[in-house]
Amino acid sequence: MSARRVPLLPPADLYGRRRSDRAIRVIDAVAETRMRWTALINRRTAAGTVDDHRIALTVAQRRVEAHDTDVVSLLLTAPDGRALPPWRPGAHLDLELPSGRLRQYSLCGDPAERHAYRVAVRRIPDGAGGSREVHEALTIGSSVTVRGPRNAFPFVLPGHGSAAARVHFVAGGIGITPILPMVRMARRLGVDWSMVYTGRSRDSMAFLGELELLGSRVSIRTDDESGLPEAGDLLAGVDTATAVYCCGPVPMTTLIADRVREMPGVELHSERFSPLPVRDGTAFEVELARTGEVIAVPADRTVLQELLKVRPDSPYSCRQGFCRTCRVNALSGPVDHRDTVLTDAERAAGDLLICVSRCAGERLVLDL
Ligand code: FES
Repeated sequence: MSARRVPLLPPADLYGRRRSDRAIRVIDAVAETRMRWTALINRRTAAGTVDDHRIALTVAQRRVEAHDTDVVSLLLTAPDGRALPPWRPGAHLDLELPSGRLRQYSLCGDPAERHAYRVAVRRIPDGAGGSREVHEALTIGSSVTVRGPRNAFPFVLPGHGSAAARVHFVAGGIGITPILPMVRMARRLGVDWSMVYTGRSRDSMAFLGELELLGSRVSIRTDDESGLPEAGDLLAGVDTATAVYCCGPVPMTTLIADRVREMPGVELHSERFSPLPVRDGTAFEVELARTGEVIAVPADRTVLQELLKVRPDSPYSCRQGFCRTCRVNALSGPVDHRDTVLTDAERAAGDLLICVSRCAGERLVLDL
């Protein structure tokens, strides 16, 4: 058991926002630890097969999934009832909300159900508005356009690309959404698996009824009953040759990553809800060419964060350099590209993703 406790009660949005807060998967190919963070490689793979095909769907069902009523699931179907593009556990959809916001949500239904996609969203009262809009504006019969599915958090079956012999799942809060289809697949295919699902309280946790049907391999752990978990609580029973799939708030994923680094033979596939802090940043200026405005970007802030102060409607979604929503063109200035998806040709044309990429000098002039 680790002596270090970390707060698993992050700001509310860390428990709730899906893909806007969503997701880093970083491969840390530190051979000696054999830990695998699946992001960079998987995102590069995903980037090569991004499906930006837009599909107009209808909300066919809306259900409250947690006793506190702050999680709803939406079942999305085609108006003509046709089959939808297939997906695998870990995939997500981009939802174009009525306001124009773009938000990413993990698919949490059954991949075998080809005529409906299910997503679940926790309402974040003080968030940027996407989750509130889903809760308030998307009712049965509403139209919503989606893009995808895409999968940047793939579930790799033991023996089929994973050296692990068994799988351990850890879900925190609304991080249950990508994990749930993985658990079902593992169970269906006879994989040796276990799971810890943690949250503030049972009232706040979605899909408890569905998980109970999956049997005793699922362990439910709540902060109000058991206190904040330690790494050992979340990784109980994990030993060598185990693949850990983890999705949840940053403190939880960080706690697990730190512990797994000390566990030879354990793979970590992790998704978290919010971007990492800026690392090795330096301050610079951004000039908005169309208006001449100049904004200062401090060393620990992103261009997007500073741009939103003067242009709050600027588009963004993942804030982690993989969805491309924030792409802009630089007219001049050296770019420090920190995304994982733009092609060399796009970079050569001056494109950059301002949620992560920076200036390698003193000033960038953006076509904004
Ligand atoms: S917001 Fe997704 S790449 Fe920038």
